[in-house]
Amino acid sequence: MVLKTGIDDLVLRPFRGEDAGFYSRYANNCNIWKFMRDEFPHPYTYNHAVEYINDVCIPNKGYYFAIDYQGIAIGDIHIAKQTDILRLSGFLGYWIAEEFWGKGFVTEAVKTITRHAFDNLGLIRVFARVFANNTGSIRVLEKAGYEREGYFKNAIIKEGVILDQLQYAKLKP
Ligand SMILES: CC(C)(COP(=O)(O)OP(=O)(O)OC[C@H]1O[C@@H](n2cnc3c(N)ncnc32)[C@H](O)[C@@H]1OP(=O)(O)O)[C@@H](O)C(=O)NCCC(=O)NCCS
Repeated sequence: MVLKTGIDDLVLRPFRGEDAGFYSRYANNCNIWKFMRDEFPHPYTYNHAVEYINDVCIPNKGYYFAIDYQGIAIGDIHIAKQTDILRLSGFLGYWIAEEFWGKGFVTEAVKTITRHAFDNLGLIRVFARVFANNTGSIRVLEKAGYEREGYFKNAIIKEGVILDQLQYAKLKP
């Protein structure tokens, strides 16, 4: 399924095998890695991208999307459906290539995938967790209508530094 956004030439679409080249080149960036979980590799190789696209994205088409600008995968946005008693919630994650930062792309992508989660995926709550020093991502969530639910002190260790973490969520209207 391809999801249109409110920005020309920007869509969310399923990953394709041929995305691995651009995807790995854009993902191989310390400025992205430093705000991601350590499971996001660094350096990020072509094989990492192939593995991610094959294992996570292609079999689960409803939830993992390439952020596509003018036909090229420039980032990733996904909602990981939760299980058991949390099964009506989804966990949102995203990144976009540094050369496209500050154009409103991820704000638009978050609005679009959240609407999709409520309208088509049967979810009633989407939440995200963000490092307290990730001002850009916090701004994205606020602009997309997410509300702060919690502030967790000393929740993260990244590059040997202890950091606070914030949780944001949006509920189905
Ligand atoms: C965070 C990220 C997703 C934002 O994507 P984006 O497409 O640039 O976001 P947008 O352009 O929609 O909005 C960014 C907003 O944050 C603001 N912003 C960005 N960096 C900022 C900073 N250091 N201080 C203050 N504001 C900042 C921008 O000005 C903009 O707000 P505005 O529209 O009010 O001016 C992108 O920078 C990224 O991929 N970062 C690395 C990975 C990451 O952090 N992923 C999220 C993990 S929770």
